[in-house]
Amino acid sequence: MRTIIEPFKIKSVEPINFNTKEERVELLKEAYFNPFLLRSDDVLIDLLTDSGTSAMSSNQWAGIMRGDESYAGSPSFFRFKAAVQDITGLPDVIPTHQGRASEKILFSIMGGKGKYFVANTLFDTTRANIEFSGAEGVDLICEEGKHPSIPAPFKGNMDVVALKKFIVEKGAENIPLVIITITNNSGGGQPVSMENIRAVRKVCSEYCIPLFIDACRFAENSWFIKMREAGYANVPVKEIAREIFSYSDGCTMSAKKDAFANIGGFLAMRDPELALKCRNLLVITEGFPTYGGLAGRDLEAIAIGLEEVLEESYLQYRIRSIEYLTDKLIDAGVPVMQPAGGHAVYLDAKAFLPHIPLDQYPGQALVGALYIEGGVRGVEIGSLMFGKYDEAHQLIPAQLELVRLAIPRRVYTQSHIDYVAEVIIEVFNNRNDITGLKIIEESPLLRHFTAKLAPIS
Ligand code: F0G
Repeated sequence: MRTIIEPFKIKSVEPINFNTKEERVELLKEAYFNPFLLRSDDVLIDLLTDSGTSAMSSNQWAGIMRGDESYAGSPSFFRFKAAVQDITGLPDVIPTHQGRASEKILFSIMGGKGKYFVANTLFDTTRANIEFSGAEGVDLICEEGKHPSIPAPFKGNMDVVALKKFIVEKGAENIPLVIITITNNSGGGQPVSMENIRAVRKVCSEYCIPLFIDACRFAENSWFIKMREAGYANVPVKEIAREIFSYSDGCTMSAKKDAFANIGGFLAMRDPELALKCRNLLVITEGFPTYGGLAGRDLEAIAIGLEEVLEESYLQYRIRSIEYLTDKLIDAGVPVMQPAGGHAVYLDAKAFLPHIPLDQYPGQALVGALYIEGGVRGVEIGSLMFGKYDEAHQLIPAQLELVRLAIPRRVYTQSHIDYVAEVIIEVFNNRNDITGLKIIEESPLLRHFTAKLAPIS
């Protein structure tokens, strides 16, 4: 088999600023050991997120020029709406400025005290919006999803038996929505199978609970179904995406992921009454229904991106590039989430740094070490992000301690990825020198974004 090459040429480039290890030691100290507080100019390879960091195509940039900025009824909106409907089949399409704006609107209407939103795994902003409404978010991931190092084809699946049990226990009337996140970002970017989506749909229908898809990475999930699920090898990936949405009553979407846009999102749904309520809120928080939180040019970029993301040469390259990095790390003995996810490589910090106790945030310590060694920026997805405190202010750790290295779409080349592997392996070989951290300042909600930390001497 020949090398799978990047299915694009580069027309416009951005410089990377090089700095030294000694400089990075100081920079990380100034950022309180939290890479969210670094300036991105001080980062060599930025794998903090794949969100809003995509390189747009020449076609999308052409769309930016075509964007019509009419306040109401812009042709850009109708192109956007048609692109969303073509894939999702959902009649009502509501543009928002990003995924969490869709979530805020949806959960302001459907949430509230005493309600439960059940998911395979909720992303952190999704959970935060649910909790902000007074409701509770519940993750019911399948057993395979709980073990980072044991490979399985669809580790993002929901535990359908647990779902049924939960509905019976709490009462269907207290569960306004079931949500499936594809791919399952907080659980390692792992895909959900069509079989699982169908099974969840069946349970939802039985209890008259609507099913929504958190569709941020729907194209990557569709590709995994094509590659791994019996009966789909010869189905065009767009058809697979359409089938996924056909089982849903609606979706929330961040176009900053699988639409190659730098900003944007939408809400789409079948229920016209719910859509009316959402639009009423949209007008006071985002904007008029034909632009939501976006400029006409953004709507164009999203419409074009949604088409491009389903090109199979792109998806083959995309998923292979993540797998390529994962394979290199596995060969070097580095503990990683297996198999490779769709948008990121996840290091298992618990296994990487067994000498650092969980209340000294091994994931965050590893994130810092990667930055110092090679200027590579990742993000902790562990107890800094999801940890809670008990009554004695002792940490209740998260289930997993992961470090996510998310790969921006169409941005880095194979040699960048080779460099990242070299840096991780170097850090792994010197892992015993890494020490733990303590939090010196934090906010009550989504603390990982702004927390200040200090090394434990
Ligand atoms: N749902 C999932 C699964 C996500 O991954 C994200 C964002 C959102 C919702 C919210 O979308 O950022 O447009 O408001 N994930 C980014 C990340 C931030 O780094 O994984 P948003």
